[in-house]
Amino acid sequence: MKEYFIQHAKDYVGKTVTLKGWAYSFRKGGKIWFLQLRDGTGVMQCVVTKFDADEASFELKNVITQETSVMVTGVIKEEPRSPGGYEILASKVEVVAIAEEYPISKKEHGIDFLMNNRHLWLRSKRQHAIIRIRHTIIKAIRDYFDDRDFTLLDTPIFQQAATEGTATLFETDYFGEKAYLTQSGQLYGEAGAAAFGKIYCFGPTFRAEKSSTRRHLTEFWMVEPEMAYCDLDMDMDVAEDLVFYIVSQVLEHRRSELETLERDISKLEAVQSPFPRISYTDAVKILQENGVEFEWGDDFGGGDETIISNQFPSPVMVHRYPSAIKAFYMKRDPENEKQAMALDMLAPEGYGEIIGGSQREDDIDALISRIKADGATEEDYSWYLDLRRYGSFPHSGFGLGVERVVSWICGLKHIRETIPFPRTISRLNP
Ligand code: 4AD
Ligand code: MG
Repeated sequence: MKEYFIQHAKDYVGKTVTLKGWAYSFRKGGKIWFLQLRDGTGVMQCVVTKFDADEASFELKNVITQETSVMVTGVIKEEPRSPGGYEILASKVEVVAIAEEYPISKKEHGIDFLMNNRHLWLRSKRQHAIIRIRHTIIKAIRDYFDDRDFTLLDTPIFQQAATEGTATLFETDYFGEKAYLTQSGQLYGEAGAAAFGKIYCFGPTFRAEKSSTRRHLTEFWMVEPEMAYCDLDMDMDVAEDLVFYIVSQVLEHRRSELETLERDISKLEAVQSPFPRISYTDAVKILQENGVEFEWGDDFGGGDETIISNQFPSPVMVHRYPSAIKAFYMKRDPENEKQAMALDMLAPEGYGEIIGGSQREDDIDALISRIKADGATEEDYSWYLDLRRYGSFPHSGFGLGVERVVSWICGLKHIRETIPFPRTISRLNP
């Protein structure tokens, strides 16, 4: 049987089709009633009259409730006054299941209530817009790497050692041994870069973030490219090119969704390459010029990142952070031992860090001494150290947090709406 979807209504004009979905809203009169039917791809106005529909179908107006599942058969017509530009003149309406009184109505609901009903809230127009933009962002990421000779390398979720510090590890029992949920696929990605040259991994990552902020989830999706014979400057080239591509794809394919979200699209159109690149030392000067008491060596807080990013319409890349505040695997700046060859990309409009990356330490002795300084042992990272024993090579990569990017592009105040079922310190359900 052929399937028909509301988003393709323009192809069905003059044809009799059956649409299957849920009752979004209705207006009921004596001889005519209107049903807004939602099928996930769009909303269609269904016109049900005493003349065109059979009697049983017409009488359904007395029983149908919001979110009742229904099938409507009729002829599709162009109708400029209807929301999508088309309507269906029903000959038959069939109820699949009457819905109980639906908890989400048009009135304002508190965020906790909506979050508790996230499984239902996903049916709303605003959530559709966000999740579709998320989809386009993820597709853009995959297309970007697939079209540039990167090999997809899936990295394990159960891992035996930390990548991004022990403070945010989720620990689990692995047949009597300790295992941790992945914080990052990077270390495995480095093995992949030695094997394939250019790889990316893309999957969920986990961090036991103990505070609740508008930027942190405990489960989030990260894409991590890793490239052999790539230095920090080349790494920044790829980061910039990728983010520019993502923004342009959303502008091309998801304009109406951005409008639904009332996003100021001009702010996204203002994103232009090349993106500014400033050193951490220059970023500190920006803070001091803006009256922030900040000392070289400290890490930026959310407020600091906002001040820095507000200086530029495009995302800004800050490089060469103090090594003391960055991860053990980052290469030291040959020109200044106190600095790591790190990069963070800060999104405009105060959305904060969307990318973190670096050139990797390729010297085995330097790496071992930092592993020990972090309180770990050589054995904990023995396979990782093999990558330096068997053909060590200059290489770099980065991680882009999908939800941070969705938050910025959609212009959301909080990260919780960027993923279908968010996980935070206070939420595991639904
Ligand atoms: O800066 P991070 O910690 O970098 C890494 O994990 C590296 N191993 C990546 C690499 O070089 N391959 O995290 C990367 C990005 C951040 O810039 C941010 O966008 C996102 O992941 N991120 C989070 N997003 C949501 N909730 C959290 N708790 C996040 N922590 C990091
Ligand atoms: Mg970071």
